Amino acid sequence: MSLVLADGLVKYFGADETTRVHALDGVSFKVNRGEYVAVMGPSGSGKSTLLTILGAMNPPSSGKLVIDDIDVYSLSQEKRADFRREYLGFVFQQLQLIPYLTALENVMLPLVVTSRKDKKELAASTLERLGLGSKLNRLPSELSGGEQSRVAIARAIVNSPPIILADEPIGSLDSKTGEEVLSVFKQLHDEGQTIIMVTHNPDSVKDADRLIQLKDGKMVANEKVKGQIVLAF
Ligand SMILES: Nc1ncnc2c1ncn2[C@@H]1O[C@H](COP(=O)(O)OP(=O)(O)O)[C@@H](O)[C@H]1O
Ligand SMILES: [Mg+2]
Repeated sequence: MSLVLADGLVKYFGADETTRVHALDGVSFKVNRGEYVAVMGPSGSGKSTLLTILGAMNPPSSGKLVIDDIDVYSLSQEKRADFRREYLGFVFQQLQLIPYLTALENVMLPLVVTSRKDKKELAASTLERLGLGSKLNRLPSELSGGEQSRVAIARAIVNSPPIILADEPIGSLDSKTGEEVLSVFKQLHDEGQTIIMVTHNPDSVKDADRLIQLKDGKMVANEKVKGQIVLAF
């Protein structure tokens, strides 16, 4: 059984039928446990809209999202928030690190609402796993771009969510730092993590198992990645 089932996802903006923007126009696919899926498409093709719907943050206008047999948008707001915390880790292009908290404190944030006793140890070991063991007490401004990205990734995985969602996580990084961050995602994937990553950089698709391509809110390709990728848009 697939971990994620997107079934006919539609999202439009605007009440007036004639001027409506169809950000997503009937997108269906499955993601298996442990799969690394890249999502590409031109600017405005619906990538971020899709990711926020997959992230249980943005109800579709129609269609269904089923994750681990749970019909996500049939949950109450409160249950959906719990679901999001348990199942999903997010990495955004604007990393949204809290500037006045240290790396360790930033990574501890998702644990605040949990009853875990080992919050500090868990956050520290997650940062260590991503090679930041010596920088736990640095503020984001005292870290390089790549290190800040790794803190954001650590924060996304500290709860061990079954799915990581990333929206252009290397979009604002130079190519060397981007490579470094991609290797972190590859490492997570090798460890069995399910990843869905939006990107506009064809080079960042090389480690993915599958590439979904969007254009004008429609899925124009959904194929296994084998070496050279062919853009369909
Ligand atoms: N909140 C919103 N209100 C109105 N239109 C939106 C909103 N969010 C996205 N859109 C529109 O939906 C389309 C898809 O946007 P988006 O998902 O951000 O694309 P991408 O991430 O691929 O650049 C675009 O035409 C965008 O202008
Ligand atoms: Mg976007």
